[in-house]
This record gives sequence, C-alpha cells and structure tokens, in this order.
Amino acid sequence: MDQRWWRNAVIYQVYVRSFADSDGDGVGDLPGIRSRLPYLAGLGVDALWITPCYPSPMNDGGYDVADYRDIDPLFGTLDDARALLDDAHRLGLKVILDIVPNHTSSAHRWFPEALAAAPGTPERNRYIFRPGRGAHGELPPNDWESIFGGAAWTRAADGEWYLHIFDSSQPDLNWENEEVREEFREILRFWLDLGVDGFRVDVAHGMVKADGLPDVGVTGQRALLDTRPLPYFDQDGVHEIYREWRKILDSYSPARIAVAEAWTSSAERTARYLRPDELHQAFNFHYLQAGWDAAELRAVIDDTLAAVAPVDAPATWVLSNHDVHRHVTRYGGGEVGLRRARAAILLMLALPGSVYLYQGEELGLPEVLDLPDEVLQDPMWERSGHTDRGRDGCRVPLPWSVEGTALGFGPDGSRPWLPQPADWAALSVAAQEGDPRSMLELYRSALRARPAGDFTWVDAGPDLLVFDRDAVRCTVNLGAPARVRASEVLVASGPCEVEGDHMLIPTDTAVWQVL
Ligand code: NOJ
Repeated sequence: MDQRWWRNAVIYQVYVRSFADSDGDGVGDLPGIRSRLPYLAGLGVDALWITPCYPSPMNDGGYDVADYRDIDPLFGTLDDARALLDDAHRLGLKVILDIVPNHTSSAHRWFPEALAAAPGTPERNRYIFRPGRGAHGELPPNDWESIFGGAAWTRAADGEWYLHIFDSSQPDLNWENEEVREEFREILRFWLDLGVDGFRVDVAHGMVKADGLPDVGVTGQRALLDTRPLPYFDQDGVHEIYREWRKILDSYSPARIAVAEAWTSSAERTARYLRPDELHQAFNFHYLQAGWDAAELRAVIDDTLAAVAPVDAPATWVLSNHDVHRHVTRYGGGEVGLRRARAAILLMLALPGSVYLYQGEELGLPEVLDLPDEVLQDPMWERSGHTDRGRDGCRVPLPWSVEGTALGFGPDGSRPWLPQPADWAALSVAAQEGDPRSMLELYRSALRARPAGDFTWVDAGPDLLVFDRDAVRCTVNLGAPARVRASEVLVASGPCEVEGDHMLIPTDTAVWQVL
C-alpha cells in the first residue's frame, strides 16, 4: 500500500445528516453511508471525510459533541461505524473522521461539572471561565465576538463568564490544561484503534488563545478572519499540540493523517500547520474564496504552491463544503454557474496535490436560497437576530432518485430534515447516470483521467489558465472563445469544435489534451 496516498488523494466530504437516510427518520446515518459506498468507489474518490457523528444535542449539526467515544443513536452505533470502516476498506476507500477539540457541547459531562463547581476548581479549569468586567462583573471579560454572532461570553449562575467562540452551547476548552490534552490524545487513540485512517481537525487554529485574553479592539471580527490573526485564532502555541498529535499518528501503520481546518490570514500562515512534525494537510480556503477570475486563481495557485514547498507538504484544493454557499451559485448560478463549475472541476483536478469534494457538487447542486424560515436549523440564524440565514442552504439532503418523497435520500414516505427543491429530481444520481453530458459523468471521467507529473505554467492570454502536467495540457478559458492547437482530448467540460489543426475553446470551458 502506498504510505503517502494522501499526497494526491481525492477526498469526498460526507455531511452525514444529508447524505443517505437508511431508516426513514429524515436524517442521514451511518448505514446510509455504508449502502452508498459502492457509489463513492465508482465515482473514483480515494477517501471519505465524515462530519461528526458523535452523541450530540445537534445545536450545531453535531459540531457540539457530548461524548467523543460513541455514535449518536440518530446516526447508528459503534458497530455501524466498524462495519462502515470494514466495507470502505474492502472497497479501497479510506475514512477520515471529524474531531472537534476546540469546544465540547454544553451537554458533555464536563460542562455541568464545571458549572456546579466553584471558580478556580479543576472542574472549571477544563473550560475558560473568567470574572466579568464592570462594577459588578456584569460586562463580559473582553470584547471577543462569537463567529455565529453576538458576544463570545455567556454568564454562569454564580456570575463568572465562560468563553464560546461559537454557540453558547459550545464552550471552549482550556488547552492550557494538561487534563484536556491527555483526554484528546486518548480520544485519537480510541478511533485510530478502531481503524480510522485520519482526522479532519475542526477549528484547528482555535485551541490556544493569546495570553491574558486581550481585546481585539473592533467589532465585526468575523470579517477579519482572513486578513489578520485574532487573539483567539492562529496563535503560535497551537502548533505544540499538533507536534504531540503527529507522534501518535505516526505510531500507527499504515499511515494515518490529519487535515487542519485552519482559517488563517495567508498561505504562509496555513503552511505552518504542515511542518513535517505537525499535520499532513490543511484546507485551502484562500482557493475556495477566489472568484472566477484567471488572475485571481493563478495568484492563489502560485501562493499555495510556493507556501507548501518549503515544508514539503501537498497543496490541497477545495471549492465547497458544509459552511459556504455551493460554488455553482457563487460562480453565478443557473447555466453560467454550472458551466463554470464544470470548468472548475477540471482545473482543480489537474492541479498538483490533494482535492476535497463536497457531497452533491458532482451533481451540480446549487445553494438552496429559499428555504422557509421555519425549517432553518443553523444557530447562525438565531444568533444573528435573523439577519444571517446561515448554512442550511448547502446542507439540503442529496437527491438519489427521480421519484419518492425524499428523492431516494430516504425510503419513500419519509421527509428529509430539510426540504429538497422539486426540480432536484432532474439533478439526482439516477437522472444523471449514463448521460455523457451530465455533471456526474464529467466528474467520473475526470477522476479516471486525472493528470499527474511535473506542473508547468504555459503563458497564454490574460483570461486563460494553461499548464502542463507532464504530457497532459490543461487549458481553462475564463474569457472570450479562444483557439488552441488541436490534439487528442482526454476530457472537456463543454463542446470544443475542431477546425483544421485548431480547436475552439468556448468561454468558461476547460479541456485536458494530450500534448
Ligand atoms: C467548523 C465547522 O466546519 C462548522 O460547521 C462548525 O460550525 C464550526 N467549526 C464549529 O465547530
């Protein structure tokens, strides 16, 4: 087995609640994933990343964990997890689990213990409790804001405040506390012993806070995430934790990996998580955030490759996940968005490194922008005072078949936890399978023909991205129709007419050719 499989792997994100529902309760589950593993193997991906499926009150879709060593009954049992791992491995698929170390759920047994204990006790010291400011401690200890809106502090009954960078039901753990560190080392071992191939580390940039918890000094802090370090994110001390984790991962064979969800201000800051004794990969959110613009994309590709080279880590590429609007919609929506998304997957899969796909992008699913208010579940909706509709629009359950009340997501008669738009029958797996013009078949062909080898830019016009991977040329045209020399086409995102020894690449179209 290739010990370094992760360096060019394609990893498919399964958002458990919305992937496949085996028991008809409207929510996706582990047996549902298991039943669809042949689909994933057939798609041609190398691994799955499964979002949290631990026992949880589900205030934040499972990113509020009450017990790190079990499976929520909504999703199945530990035996289902074992069976899923076995089946996946038999099909040659790796499985990466989401681990949530920045915060627990307030339903985790540690939190009621902390609330019941007095200030300064070991029970409280597992979290970040502080006295408030103001004459009577009635003001939060500092000006930090929750990523979901409102203050990042909530007052406990005895007057102390606790920190929660996310929802008030997600208290931040105190990573200065050795007991917390030891607990997570044990949790990693628990799942590694069960056979998982790695972890996606939630809020990997968040566990260590700046000494003295200093004020940021401005409001609207979420907007600063990508431009400057905040005292609660991307602090240097966090890297010490990953050095400990890497030793644990390296003590298992075959290789186990970890990928950081780290929002930082630059590709260089992200690369610090990828030093040889830290984590293996980090999501490339700078790439995800680039617009459909040749210069912008080329700049972020160059920045990324330059940043990962000195630490000898693979670049990663991603366009969508369960926290952002789906890229078909970001790229303009409708026919334009779809055309660009088709070109974008050929660009992304031709770049050197590892690629993350988000479930449903292979079907060309758009963001659902018109979910009724009453079905919204993302805590952002409430915490923003109903000004931010949150992330439910990219979490609508997948359509698998053309018919049925759940379009095959669950058994006929069941109702998915978020309603699927009626026109999603036409986007279902069943509707696209075998249709050579479909997004699904484009993904399948591209995953089969993915180029490899040395990466070299070829200078072309300002709206063209052209590069070679050994003997394969990838051309992405983001401007007016362009003529290139004709040769054998491996995959094209749209029709390219051949005229003599030339080929016409239309606007927003990509093609892989043999040189
Ligand atoms: C990042 C996860 O991707 C997101 O869904 C979650 O709300 C936050 N971390 C908090 O855990």
